[in-house]
Amino acid sequence: MKKSVRKAVIAGNWKMNKTPSEASELIKQIAEKAEGKNGCEVVLCVPFVDLCAASDAAKGTNVKIGAQNVHFEEKGAFTGEISVSMLKEVGAEYVIIGHSERRQYFGESNETVNKRVKAALAGGLKVILCVGETLDEREKGITGETVSVQTKIALLDVDSEALKNVIIAYEPVWAIGTGKTATADQAQEVCAKIREVLADKYGNDAAEATTIQYGGSMNAANAAELLAKVDIDGGLIGGASLKSEDFGVIIDAAQ
Ligand code: PGA
Repeated sequence: MKKSVRKAVIAGNWKMNKTPSEASELIKQIAEKAEGKNGCEVVLCVPFVDLCAASDAAKGTNVKIGAQNVHFEEKGAFTGEISVSMLKEVGAEYVIIGHSERRQYFGESNETVNKRVKAALAGGLKVILCVGETLDEREKGITGETVSVQTKIALLDVDSEALKNVIIAYEPVWAIGTGKTATADQAQEVCAKIREVLADKYGNDAAEATTIQYGGSMNAANAAELLAKVDIDGGLIGGASLKSEDFGVIIDAAQ
């Protein structure tokens, strides 16, 4: 299968930005940019409290809505957590799981990532699974090993049918929010490695069909070069997804 056959997905990760009213406004602007751009899927992953407003604003447009995390239990005594069914009811189709900020600041481990991935898939959400090495791991020469372990553990007990609803986002931790982008060659090398891990587990066809994104200071200026690489099928974009002009340029680059 060729890269052109895989679904390109340009996803925004708004992190802890925008109130519900601000979200509606920005989604309207982004939806205008996304109109008629059928060469990629456009997803915006917004804060939990923005989901209702975001789903309303995205209705009838090309934009899909996602959340930034989900708990693995269906319900119960988990103060502050949100379940899959709650997300679905307010219109989320996607969920980011295992973002490095969750791993760094909120005790997320490969094991809890796996539990969240399984729960989200079982409940019918599409998953954007984040993996990526720290600067220390890159300097030690264990980037490949790190992303392999993260990918393998996250996908334990996920079968090839369920894999169809998984996007993998390669996000080098040192490139997130720092303005330091991985070079297109560095990003390509790791995305190819991730595809190799998928091929070992699921076979070539499933690996070739899986969308792999790059994330980490992707912006209007560097998106085209990154997206031109054979194993980079989209982007997970933080800062630049909060500016409709810049995000529009990235959507165009993915066409
Ligand atoms: P950034 O964030 O584009 O602001 O570097 C990417 C991400 O964290 O998903």
